[in-house]
Amino acid sequence: MELPTRRKGIAIMTSGGDSAGMNPAVKCAVEYAAQRGHEPYLVYDGLRGLIDDNIVLATRELVSGILHRGGTILRSSRSKRFFDIEYRRQAYENLKKRGIEKLIVIGGDGSFRALNQFYADFGVPFAGIPATIDNDIAGTDYCLGVDTALNVIRQSIDSIRDTASSFSRAFVVEVMGRHCGYLALVSALSCGAEICLVPEVPYNLESIGARIKHEIANGRRYVLAITAEGTKMSDYLTRWINDSIGMEARLTVLGHVQRGGSPTVHDRVMAYKFAVAAVDSLDAGQTNTIMVFRDGTYGHLPIEAVAHQKYQLDSTLIKLAGPLAS
Ligand code: F6P
Repeated sequence: MELPTRRKGIAIMTSGGDSAGMNPAVKCAVEYAAQRGHEPYLVYDGLRGLIDDNIVLATRELVSGILHRGGTILRSSRSKRFFDIEYRRQAYENLKKRGIEKLIVIGGDGSFRALNQFYADFGVPFAGIPATIDNDIAGTDYCLGVDTALNVIRQSIDSIRDTASSFSRAFVVEVMGRHCGYLALVSALSCGAEICLVPEVPYNLESIGARIKHEIANGRRYVLAITAEGTKMSDYLTRWINDSIGMEARLTVLGHVQRGGSPTVHDRVMAYKFAVAAVDSLDAGQTNTIMVFRDGTYGHLPIEAVAHQKYQLDSTLIKLAGPLAS
């Protein structure tokens, strides 16, 4: 008689800065892992929850009605304790006692590096799903949450344009992205800004000033400028437009509003694709790979090609936005 084989545990967690799309990824990973014969678990509170044993068996109820919700129902954290081998050992014991043999982590490259260290310590294979509004993970053109964040920014800038044009003012809008200018660049292009400053593109205030003054002399009545937070230029640029260009200027820092909101259709579909790929890669015996979407193709890359490399902005985008920085 054939004995029934015990189903293998796969735990799903979110880690680092939350982003829209994490919930559909959690839901799909749970459902697909179950379909493939695994026993899915949920880790709450990210790496902190792994250490503190905040792990439960996934049920249909726990992942129902979450698809449209922003953020992550699993909550997230950035844990300093995880740098300590003793806490990582504690995390390992928590997995072992439940028969959890594999992990799916939805987050950024810091989380991937942490899980890779965990793999080196205890041999727990993991699959990473890129999720961060910054879109700054090397090897993938897309990270979950970016489209939703861009739409939040687009809506905000459209609103700011209404007041800018009504009051003949300049507005500087600072967007997130940490050290990466992707959100700023795409927002500036899609919202028709006159100025865009990002860390990756050299800018020239003198020529920007000459260009904008010329446009004002020819009828321009308001100005929209987008800055990436990584430039740390928002305050300066606002004062500079006011004083050097002579147009009354205001600064809007969009802040954490960009991290929230119901995931767009694009983020939901991307979440599904990445989640299925993550389960499949673990089933295929991959031990520490990151799901990626590159040049229109889904795939996965070894962690070294992702977590220790610098993300490069698409050169076409840089070319398009170049005139906004000079
Ligand atoms: O990485 C996502 C992000 O929102 C960055 O764009 C931003 O710089 C940072 O996180 C903000 O971090 P916190 O939520 O800890 O303030």
